[in-house]
Amino acid sequence: MSLLAKPVVVLILNANLSRVYGFRAPAPSLLRYSYEFLTENKMEEDTHQRFYNHAWLYEKAFNWRDIEKECQFLSQLYTTHTSKPLRAMLELACGPAEHARWYAAQQIHAHALDLNQDMLDYASAQVKTPDYFHPHKMNMCTFDIPSEPVGMACCLIDSIAYITTHDAFRTHLESVARALEDGGIYVIETVHPKDTLCDVQTTETSWTVELSESAIDVIFGHPNNKIDPISQITMIDVTLRQRRLCDGKILVDLTERAPLKLYLYQELLALIHGSPFCVVETFGALDTEVALDSSTHAWRTVLVLQKRY
Ligand SMILES: C[S@@+](CC[C@H](N)C(=O)[O-])C[C@H]1O[C@@H](n2cnc3c(N)ncnc32)[C@H](O)[C@@H]1O
Repeated sequence: MSLLAKPVVVLILNANLSRVYGFRAPAPSLLRYSYEFLTENKMEEDTHQRFYNHAWLYEKAFNWRDIEKECQFLSQLYTTHTSKPLRAMLELACGPAEHARWYAAQQIHAHALDLNQDMLDYASAQVKTPDYFHPHKMNMCTFDIPSEPVGMACCLIDSIAYITTHDAFRTHLESVARALEDGGIYVIETVHPKDTLCDVQTTETSWTVELSESAIDVIFGHPNNKIDPISQITMIDVTLRQRRLCDGKILVDLTERAPLKLYLYQELLALIHGSPFCVVETFGALDTEVALDSSTHAWRTVLVLQKRY
């Protein structure tokens, strides 16, 4: 799946349109996701929450990311577009909030928002500058953080795919705009369109991370997970397994299924048009040197939005 992805470089929503033959009506279960908002009692089943209850394992499983470099990229965007020093940021669907934690360590106020209490507890326990770290258990579709507006917000690694309707996406943008100062920056990272439309696999869907005493296997998606071409939603199976290295004993073994929506670039532009934001830059990775194009270096869609003055 697009989502949680490692460059083939981790793929979440890569149910390939070219493998969907002919027209078929969306299954009733998917129609439900296309029209309904995520409500409190559906969050558990709709957002891989059993998987995310393992915050420590999640962080270790994604240890291939260069968090400092990603944060420097985000800070550079803020400086370029506002010419001001960043004083406060917001990480949406933050998981273990590694980016917010990095900012808190720089004594920049960092707000970390997620549905998952285990993730927020784990993140808070790692922070050495707690006065600068502000966890919020909230839904990214409709929220208000209890603070002054922040300068920069981000929603990374295709967590945006958990927003499965256009109405929810629009209320999400309105919530983010309320949390941002005028001229503030919102950075969204999602899947590269070629992953889905051009049959080019830009991400790996399964990988193993070896720790000193155990190994973690992560598998995003299953060959049976096909995209519904009408709703652009795929019911994605995510497997998390932890094996003890000395005797192979399985310590954690779970597979859970939840809906993730594919957002295509033109769709995002249409959704942003008429919102409190305009698109000021795009990239093909969390890297100012990588353009959003069809070259091999471009493997993500990164949109830089600026809240209108
Ligand atoms: C892929 S993980 C976290 C990724 C994190 N952005 C990162 O870069 O590591 C996705 C997170 O989104 C959270 N999530 C899913 N739907 C959400 C929603 N509607 N509001 C807030 N958090 C949500 C999950 O609980 C999970 O922690």
